[in-house]
Amino acid sequence: MEKIELNINGEDVTVEVERNWTLLYVLREILNLTGAKPGCNTGDCGACKVIIDGEAVNSCLVHAVRVQGKAIETVEGLSINGKLHPLQQAFIDCGAVQCGYCTPGMLMSAKALLDKNRTPSEDEIREAIGNNLCRCTGYYKIIEAIQRAAKMMGEVKVE
Ligand code: FES
Ligand code: FES
Repeated sequence: MEKIELNINGEDVTVEVERNWTLLYVLREILNLTGAKPGCNTGDCGACKVIIDGEAVNSCLVHAVRVQGKAIETVEGLSINGKLHPLQQAFIDCGAVQCGYCTPGMLMSAKALLDKNRTPSEDEIREAIGNNLCRCTGYYKIIEAIQRAAKMMGEVKVE
């Protein structure tokens, strides 16, 4: 076992991990943060997406030992004091959540985008969620939700 220190959703955390454990496994099974979802476990579906030092990353592909000292954001950190993040609210308002399995990963890809670019074009939104698969929504409502969230954050007009 190896001890690593992380900052998860603003809190410093120390955890002992095996070298072959993925970040997804550590989040879900050791830290009980089950928002990031296991889907393909091969980097193809985006259900396990978290933000590492500002970048949306598939946590199933990252060994936990590689994130020593890094800042991790998960879907559990999006709402603050019970108030939903604009992205969460917009996903609800736009009907962008159906079965919900893809939603945490979608939200984290969208947050990483809006943290860097508060006025994304539709193409930029499509690119940001290009590695996130959704079997339910057809993506239009998700794109609309991200546009709406950007507007709620005071940045862009939603047509
Ligand atoms: S479970 Fe990680 S990309 Fe599918
Ligand atoms: S809402 Fe079901 S997979 Fe996206």
